[in-house]
Amino acid sequence: DNRLVGRDFLSLKNFSSDEIKQLLWTAIDLKTRIKENGEVFQPLKGKTAALIFQKRSTRTRLSTELGLAKLGGHACFLGPDDIHLGVNESVKDSARVLAGMADIILARVFGHDFLEILADEAKVPVINGLSDLLHPLQILADFMTLQENFGYIRGVKIAWIGDGNNICHSLMYGCAKLGVDLNVATPASYEPNHAITVEAMKIAGKTGASFNFGNDPVAAAYRADAIITDTWVSMGQEEEKQKRLKDFAGYQINRKMLKEAGGNWVFLHCLPRKQEEVTDDIFYGEESLVWQEAENRMWTVMAVMLHQLQPYRPTIPMPKF
Ligand code: CP
Ligand code: NVA
Repeated sequence: DNRLVGRDFLSLKNFSSDEIKQLLWTAIDLKTRIKENGEVFQPLKGKTAALIFQKRSTRTRLSTELGLAKLGGHACFLGPDDIHLGVNESVKDSARVLAGMADIILARVFGHDFLEILADEAKVPVINGLSDLLHPLQILADFMTLQENFGYIRGVKIAWIGDGNNICHSLMYGCAKLGVDLNVATPASYEPNHAITVEAMKIAGKTGASFNFGNDPVAAAYRADAIITDTWVSMGQEEEKQKRLKDFAGYQINRKMLKEAGGNWVFLHCLPRKQEEVTDDIFYGEESLVWQEAENRMWTVMAVMLHQLQPYRPTIPMPKF
C-alpha cells in the first residue's frame, strides 16, 4: 500500500480515517517490534531529514532525530540561528535547497502558510512539526496513547478544557475523522478557529462524532473518559501572559472540577506543562498518561516518516480503533 508515500503531513484534514488508522497501526507495530521485541529494524538506512525549528522544542526534535536514527536514517537539526531561511534567503529558495539534500523536511513554524509554501516548493515530503494553527503529530501520539489505554479510540469521550489553540484544532480534525466524541470548553474569545470548527463539524457530521463547544469546563468534562489540556500561553503569545492567566481563571484541571464532572477519566497533556493549567496531583497522579503520550510522539513520527518514504505493512494484526 503506497497511498502515503511522498505525501506531506501538514494537517489531519488531508488524511482519510483509514490513512490515520494506518499510521497509528504502524506506530504501534514499530513500538512492538523495536521496543518490546528488541528488534533492530532499519528500513530507512541512508535516508535523511532536515529539521527546521523557528521555535523551541524538546519532544518534536528528540522524537524525530532519535526516531529516524532508530530506523537507520539521519536527521539534521536547524535552529532559528542556524539557517538563512526567511532571514537572508526566501522560503522558496531554502525549500529547494533543502529538498535537494534531504529526503524529508520537518518544520516547526509560526505562520501555517510558511509550511504550505515550503511544501509547494520542496519536492520531498514536508512534516508539520507545529504551527500556530495546527500540531497533527501530537494528535497521532494522543490517539495511540488512548488506544493503548482503552483498547480502542472511537467510543472514548474526550473533553478539551483550555485554549482553542493549535493542539485543539488538530484534535478536532482527528476526532472528526475517526468519529470520536469531543467536548470543547474554552473561555469566551478563546474559542477554536471558526473555519476549522466549521470544517471539523462537517466531517464529524459524516462520521457520527458528536461535538459540543461551550464556556463551561465542568459541563465539558461531564462523564468524559479523557481530559485533555495544554498551556494557556503558547509559544509566540508570551506578551499576553498576564491577560491570559486572568482570562483562564476557573479552567485549571483539578480534583474539585473533575469530581463535579463525575466519571472515570485519564489525563493527557502534550507538554511542556505550566503549573497553572493542571494541579500536580493530577499531572503526576495515576490517571495521568503524559509520559506514555510523550514517548508515543517518537513511535508516531517514525510511522509518518516510514510511510512517506516507502510502503509498509505492519507485522501485528490491526488493533481496534
Ligand atoms: N508536545 C510538543 O510538541 O513538545 P515540544 O514543544 O517539546 O516539541
Ligand atoms: N500550544 C503549544 C503547544 C506546544 C507543544 C504551543 O504552541 O506553544
